[in-house]
Amino acid sequence: MQSNALNFVFGLTIGLVFSYVTISYMTGFHIPRPTQMRFVATGEPEMKLDSAGRIFLNHEDLERFGAIVHPVEFKDTHAHNDEDEEARRLEKEVRVLCWVMTSPQNLESKATHVRRTWARRCNKLLFISSVTNETFPTIGIDVPEGRDHLTAKTMKAFKYIFEHHMDDADWFMKADDDTYVILENMRYFLSGQNTNEAIYFGHHFKPLVKQGYFSGGAGYVLSKESLRRFGAHGNNASVCRQDGGAEDAEFGRCMEKLGVKVGNSTDKLGRSRFHCFDPDTHLTGNYPDWYYKYDAHGGKKGRESISDYAISFHYVPVAKMYALEFYIYHLRPYGLQSGKQELNHDRGN
Ligand SMILES: *[C@@H]1O[C@H](CO)[C@@H](O)[C@H](O)[C@H]1NC(C)=O
Ligand SMILES: *[C@@H]1O[C@H](CO)[C@@H](O)[C@H](O)[C@H]1NC(C)=O
Ligand SMILES: *[C@@H]1O[C@H](CO)[C@@H](O)[C@H](O)[C@H]1NC(C)=O
Repeated sequence: MQSNALNFVFGLTIGLVFSYVTISYMTGFHIPRPTQMRFVATGEPEMKLDSAGRIFLNHEDLERFGAIVHPVEFKDTHAHNDEDEEARRLEKEVRVLCWVMTSPQNLESKATHVRRTWARRCNKLLFISSVTNETFPTIGIDVPEGRDHLTAKTMKAFKYIFEHHMDDADWFMKADDDTYVILENMRYFLSGQNTNEAIYFGHHFKPLVKQGYFSGGAGYVLSKESLRRFGAHGNNASVCRQDGGAEDAEFGRCMEKLGVKVGNSTDKLGRSRFHCFDPDTHLTGNYPDWYYKYDAHGGKKGRESISDYAISFHYVPVAKMYALEFYIYHLRPYGLQSGKQELNHDRGN
């Protein structure tokens, strides 16, 4: 199991490097000098990525890399002649509003790439920042930047969404600007859930709040009833803390006070759908120590612990977002047809 996962990651890495080198060769797109972004996310030192040439990309390169890897708009068509009727049906039936928490300094380095990759598939997409930027655009809410005020940002963002976008979606997801979400899988899972129930879903952490709470970075998604309850009482300071503390734990505490339940999103095989690290970290299990105390499911690792219909990952660097787009939506093993296995088995209701 361990070695399968390692082999898989190793293969993935070689594949990545190979594609990159091929693209470089074909386009004259040279490997640039180290600048801002590490191409590979978290450290698995045993993989010796450095010897394969740990790749760094600066902003311009990323722009070109993105353009090369994923020029196809999901709304128009998939890159292949995939059967996507079901995904299109669910796109209409299970409408998901995504709001991405960002900041003025992250617009060009992160948010713009989120918008160009996974977030295009949201039914409604909002970038919420401390400052309004009409060209991006971002919605500015009156909160100072900085870690100390993430709670206020989330509280005010959900208030804004309750007041302006309640009718635009069936489910309401918060994500960070380094979260990666597979919207088709989100809709598939949610299609088995009831949005009129006071419930929300995400990557379950167990400490601090009695029923636990959901990791902010893995993204969490609220039912309409949850947002309704938040809209009615969530901004009352004697019910929910409005600023300070840890954003996700405070929001979780607030949900508990409002009678909103933490939902179960593991699949029938006990595999996780929301993830608070990037795919490599969950595959290798190269977790920081705190994770074992926090994770409600005991910090499982490896391919067998991750749902085939995984919904989200966190700490995904920009280049990896484009790489994931490539692996998930573009690359295909010939002769296999995906999307039909385990229907109504894996949905989680
Ligand atoms: C607003 O967004 C645009 C487009 O992303 C960007 O070029 C510009 O620098 C931003 N303005 C400010 C004041 O941040
Ligand atoms: C805020 O909550 C408290 C405690 O439940 C309640 O007594 C008060 O009326 C609420 N205030 C508003 C403005 O709803
Ligand atoms: C969570 O849901 C899955 C899928 O329906 C189920 O198999 C599992 O037993 C549930 N876990 C808990 C703790 O209820």
